[in-house]
Parts: sequence; structure tokens; C-alpha cells
Amino acid sequence: MKKPLLWTVPLLLLLIASGIRCSCEDDYRRELVQIADALKKLSESKTVTVDDIDCKESVNRSDVICKEIDGFRWIVVQMRTDSRQNFNRSWEEYRKGFGDERNYWIGNELLHDLTKNESNNSNNSVLRVELEDWRGNKAWAEYADFSVDSEPNKYRLNVGKFRGNASDGLSSHNGSLFSTYDVKNDEAPECCPCASAYGGGWWFNSCFEANLNGMYRDVSEDAGYYGGIIWEPWLGNYSLKRSEMMVRRLPYRRGTDVPEDP
Ligand SMILES: *[C@@H]1O[C@H](CO)[C@@H](O)[C@H](O)[C@H]1NC(C)=O
Ligand SMILES: *[C@@H]1O[C@H](CO)[C@@H](O)[C@H](O)[C@H]1NC(C)=O
Ligand SMILES: *[C@@H]1O[C@H](CO)[C@@H](O)[C@H](O)[C@H]1NC(C)=O
Ligand SMILES: *[C@@H]1O[C@H](CO)[C@@H](O)[C@H](O)[C@H]1NC(C)=O
Ligand SMILES: *[C@@H]1O[C@H](CO)[C@@H](O)[C@H](O)[C@H]1NC(C)=O
Ligand SMILES: *[C@@H]1O[C@H](CO)[C@@H](O)[C@H](O)[C@H]1NC(C)=O
Ligand SMILES: *[C@@H]1O[C@H](CO)[C@@H](O)[C@H](O)[C@H]1NC(C)=O
Ligand SMILES: *[C@@H]1O[C@H](CO)[C@@H](O)[C@H](O)[C@H]1NC(C)=O
Repeated sequence: MKKPLLWTVPLLLLLIASGIRCSCEDDYRRELVQIADALKKLSESKTVTVDDIDCKESVNRSDVICKEIDGFRWIVVQMRTDSRQNFNRSWEEYRKGFGDERNYWIGNELLHDLTKNESNNSNNSVLRVELEDWRGNKAWAEYADFSVDSEPNKYRLNVGKFRGNASDGLSSHNGSLFSTYDVKNDEAPECCPCASAYGGGWWFNSCFEANLNGMYRDVSEDAGYYGGIIWEPWLGNYSLKRSEMMVRRLPYRRGTDVPEDP
């Protein structure tokens, strides 16, 4: 990996503010502080504060990971657009995050921090997946109650109710642990770990219905046996051209700590 993703630090700060819609200023600031702390730990080289965070201008710019869809602001945590980044990386790299503005993984630590249980209010993040094939067809999937557990718990995936038109590729991964080529937490036989076979770090079981961190293929037909960027229930054995995964927190209602419905 190159320098520890210095570009992401200011960027993330920008983004994170926009990922949060909150009627309660205190909760909002508290979340920003928590996220800023997490970033500080991750980057070590820069001290960040909530005052550094301002996402307004960065929404909808292609080089930042804030996005507005249906009136909500999302933090894009995964992006695949071409083959320039290798996604077959180690546990440590997936932990910290890697990539460039067009192809990246935000990092499992940050994913955990973004989705973890605050205010005793578990599972109050939504995951949105956007996919595109080589003919420009698009599809999306959303999951309520998205969370990624801590490192000691192997970044276990939790997803709740599905909606969308991509078909549900992730529910079968609910509860799965994260694996990389150097850390096998999957349910495949010892001989044949999923991450090495297909590339990428993911919540493999044995092995997957969706693998958005698979090896990038320049054409769908080059997929081999489910090699590539796969969302099987949509297009089967077909390597997608683009994928994005994004997260937003549900806003808190003042005083109640109950997340509002989207
Ligand atoms: C971002 O794009 C969306 C959809 O095109 C639009 O509705 C929204 O107003 C834009 N936001 C900003 C801050 O430009
Ligand atoms: C969260 O839970 C802890 C212990 O279960 C409790 O002491 C605390 O008051 C709770 N916080 C809120 C905001 O409900
Ligand atoms: C989330 O919060 C609830 C209520 O405090 C707690 O029971 C649960 O263990 C927490 N879950 C995680 C993953 O921390
Ligand atoms: C949150 O996820 C945990 C598993 O990590 C699950 O046991 C729990 O029921 C979920 N809570 C809610 C409110 O959906
Ligand atoms: C899914 O919905 C989007 C609009 O939200 C649309 O652009 C897309 O074509 C739909 N895809 C499928 C596979 O239905
Ligand atoms: C995912 O797993 C958790 C914990 O086992 C469970 O509470 C939740 O209902 C599951 N989600 C779905 C969509 O089945
Ligand atoms: C991923 O990297 C590991 C370690 O270098 C290697 O053994 C494995 O074959 C690679 N997998 C793919 C699909 O390229
Ligand atoms: C997947 O697609 C590749 C390339 O088209 C093909 O060679 C392979 O047999 C397919 N595998 C399955 C299981 O359909």
C-alpha cells in the first residue's frame, strides 16, 4: 500500500458530516467526534477535529465519497470502476482501507465505527449497493440494520431487511465473518479458502452469492467460474462493470434515541 491513505483523511472528514442527517445537534456532534477519533487512530499522522468537517461542497463531486440520493446523504464505503487497484489484499490492508478516488475500500475499522451501536440503538445504519453492468443497466439493493462488528469479532456482517431491484445477494452473508487471503474465517474446506480462490476481502461463507471485492475483469465474459465482481441473484456468473457500497446513519429523534424511518 502507498502512504496510509492520506487523501482519505480530509476527504472522509468532509464526507462524514454529510452522511448524517440529524435533528439533534448534540447527537450530531457526538457522532462526528467519534468518527474523528476513529480517523485519528487510523491515520496517526494528522490530528483531526470536528471543526475540520464540512461536507457541503463535496457532495456530488466525483473525487469524494459523499453522495446524495433520494434526499439522503451517503458515505460511499466501497467503489469499483476499473482495474487500477488490486483488491486481493491482506487483512491489515482491509482493516485500514486502501485505494484511490475511483477504486477503494474505506477500511473495516471505519466501517465498524460508522455502523456500530451508539445510544444503545443497535443496527441503525442503512447499506445501499449500486451496481452497473457492461451495457449500462443498473440495479440497487438496500439493507436495514447494517453493521460490521469489531476486529476481535472478525468484522462480522449484520444485515437486516432487504429492498431494491438487484435481488438480494447479501442476506445469505448475514452473520458471516470477514476473510482475506491471509486470514481465513470462511466456511470453505481448509484446502480451498474463498478469498485466495476469488480474490478480495469479503464476508465469505462457502463461498458467496455476492462478492463485490472480487478481481476486476475488463469484460463480463472474462469471468471464469464466478470470478470478478459478482452479484449472483441479479446477473449470475457475470462480472460487473461498477459497484458502490454506501452507508448512512438513521437520524436520531431528539430525546428518544429511536432512529427514524428512512
Ligand atoms: C446532488 O445530486 C442530487 C441528485 O442529482 C441532487 O438532488 C442534489 O441536490 C445534489 N446535491 C448538491 C449539494 O449539489
Ligand atoms: C445505555 O445503556 C446503559 C447500560 O445499559 C445505560 O446506563 C444508559 O443509560 C443507556 N443510555 C441511553 C441513552 O439509553
Ligand atoms: C448494542 O446495544 C445493545 C443495547 O445496549 C446491546 O445489548 C448490544 O450488545 C449492542 N450490540 C453490539 C454489537 O455492540
Ligand atoms: C442487531 O444485530 C444483532 C446482530 O449483530 C441482532 O442480534 C439484533 O437483533 C439486531 N437488532 C435489531 C434492533 O435489529
Ligand atoms: C432499478 O431501479 C432503477 C431506478 O431506481 C432503474 O434505473 C434501474 O433500471 C432498475 N433496474 C432494474 C434491474 O430493474
Ligand atoms: C441477520 O442476523 C442477525 C443475527 O443473527 C439476526 O438478528 C437478523 O434477523 C438477521 N437478518 C436477516 C435479514 O435475517
Ligand atoms: C490473492 O493473493 C494471494 C496471495 O498473494 C494468492 O495466493 C491468490 O492466488 C490471489 N488470488 C487471486 C484470485 O488472484
Ligand atoms: C461462467 O462464465 C464463464 C465465462 O463465460 C464460463 O466459462 C463458465 O463456464 C461459467 N461458469 C458457470 C458455472 O456458469
